[in-house]
Amino acid sequence: MNPSGVPAGSGRGGGTERPVRILFVCLGNICRSPAAEGVFLHLLERQGLERAFRVDSAGTGHWHVGRPADPRMRSAAGRRGIELPSRARQISADDLSRFDHVLTMDRQNLRDVLALATPGVATARIGPLTSHCRRFTLEEVPDPYYGGEESFERVLDLLEDACTGLLETLRAEQLGHGN
Ligand code: 4NP
Repeated sequence: MNPSGVPAGSGRGGGTERPVRILFVCLGNICRSPAAEGVFLHLLERQGLERAFRVDSAGTGHWHVGRPADPRMRSAAGRRGIELPSRARQISADDLSRFDHVLTMDRQNLRDVLALATPGVATARIGPLTSHCRRFTLEEVPDPYYGGEESFERVLDLLEDACTGLLETLRAEQLGHGN
């Protein structure tokens, strides 16, 4: 979860539309999804688009609620100049109507999120983050929790690719170039 709360903003970075709301989801909300949140926020900052989006992350599990991101992930992200401001929280069914896009890290996350969705109430577009990759062809962001340092680097490589693709797609939609 982003502790800074709800940023004001506009859909096109200068108009009056509300920000596009994005939620990244993994299992524990201490490794992959807070890293995706940080990577996406970093891209927004670099492009001056912070006000056009509201970004958050959550876990399907409750075990780490309230904790900051895993120190191994924070170190790896920090080496790339990316901060991870998140504190873990568990996803709830309400998130599926409060956010426009819910991006999951692996197949189990996707199943768990879909199981929370009440038809007719859940309005978010729910799908795997890796579907936005441009360079990688993996279908899941692998869980680095029990891996070594290289697992965290690999996750960040994947997330940078996927978040870049996601931002391109969403900007095209915002600017009316989407399909
Ligand atoms: P995440 O990684 O889902 O990317 O936050 C994990 C964090 C904790 C655990 C598993 C995965 N765990 O088993 O506690």
